[in-house]
Amino acid sequence: MRLSAKPSADTLGLMGEKIKAPRGTFDALPDSQGARQAIGDISRELLESAGYGRIETPDFEQTDLFTRGVGESTEVVQKQMFTFTDQGGRSLTLRPEGTAPVCRAYIEHGMQKWPQPVKLWYSGPFFRHERPQAGRFRQFTQVGAESIGSDSPLVDAELVVLVWDILSELGVQGIELRLGSLGSIAARAAYLDRLRAHLRKHEDALSAEVRERIDLNPLRAFDAADEGTREVMAGAPRLLESLEGEDVEHFESVRALLDRSGVPYEVDDTMVRGLDYYTRTVFELHSPALGAQSQVGGGGRYDGLIGHLGGPPTPAAGWALGVERLALAMGQAAPEPAVDVFIVAGEEDRERALQLAIELRRAGVAADLDLAGRSNKGQMKQADRSGAAQAVILEDGRATLRDMGSGEQREVDMAAVAQELGRR
Ligand code: HAM
Repeated sequence: MRLSAKPSADTLGLMGEKIKAPRGTFDALPDSQGARQAIGDISRELLESAGYGRIETPDFEQTDLFTRGVGESTEVVQKQMFTFTDQGGRSLTLRPEGTAPVCRAYIEHGMQKWPQPVKLWYSGPFFRHERPQAGRFRQFTQVGAESIGSDSPLVDAELVVLVWDILSELGVQGIELRLGSLGSIAARAAYLDRLRAHLRKHEDALSAEVRERIDLNPLRAFDAADEGTREVMAGAPRLLESLEGEDVEHFESVRALLDRSGVPYEVDDTMVRGLDYYTRTVFELHSPALGAQSQVGGGGRYDGLIGHLGGPPTPAAGWALGVERLALAMGQAAPEPAVDVFIVAGEEDRERALQLAIELRRAGVAADLDLAGRSNKGQMKQADRSGAAQAVILEDGRATLRDMGSGEQREVDMAAVAQELGRR
């Protein structure tokens, strides 16, 4: 019998199949954090300077909030929700979007008594059971903004200019802003009847999927890819053209305000947003560099949603940006921040090196060191890679400060290293 000094991993019951992250999810590793943090920081800075306060809502909500809020006929509700029953038999859903939860919070906390509009922003994870592909995930991150309590076109314009400025500040190139209007709820209902009539008249030419959705969601026909449906839709009545009165005035005002702010856009009269709550202004931001999943952000007005969720009738508008798509559109991630000092230590000085690192960090100096027993040469390489401007070399009880740029070295008093570096 062979004896082994070390128990094998198996004896400890540790061997097994590798477990992977669930399909459609991803790990955001340190080298992707530069872009992600920049998106969060710049959004926060611009939104808070414009009077938006941060709100955090739970990652899951009662399922009804989304079936009612987002709409039973939408793909999000029909196919994409991660819904589960909790131990108390309640149906809960991982939030697929942020607008309905923010509206729920507005109602629940009586925010209609606050000065209107109430301007809120958020950032966090969202969940949709979609077919994963580049830029499309089952857990993704959104930064969003909602302005609740005013139907003024100033609100729509403020929101669009803010999202445009965030993208500009992030240096995302080539963004296209598409703008449309769906009109008021009544105007939209009348239009949908006309659209249904048009679709029924040409039913034979439509794809089976579109035909089945004539009653439920005829607008989706504008999104269809098959030749037959596209031909029928080319001749379909356009919602934008059928708008009248105040709806037209509202849209014209939003457009004029955007023109004055120097935000370029194109009017899109076939835009179909995937969520049912929109009224009047709708918009999307696309990055052509991204291919099929080019939509980095979208939003619009949703004047009926709060009333629909049991609150007082309250007009509102907002948008959300997809952080992962935006990071892709930004291309090369921003480089990781470098440490200030890297500590290189001989065998005898390793513990002292950790003490020094702790002291430096407490004094506000970003310091790193080798923790894997590398040779001095290996540690110097590591110091180089770390991007540190200086290295402290601890050897035989002596400390040497090395300028990593010039290679210049000078001995320093071991006891005063932290003080000296802290001063710099
Ligand atoms: P949305 O257009 O459904 O709008 O999503 C906003 C953004 O989230 C999209 O433009 C996209 O960048 C990103 N996104 C959506 N699904 C995925 C996915 N599966 N993987 C990666 N990114 C994704 C809303 O969610 C509305 N709540 C926006 C809004 C706020 N409207 C009014 N207020």
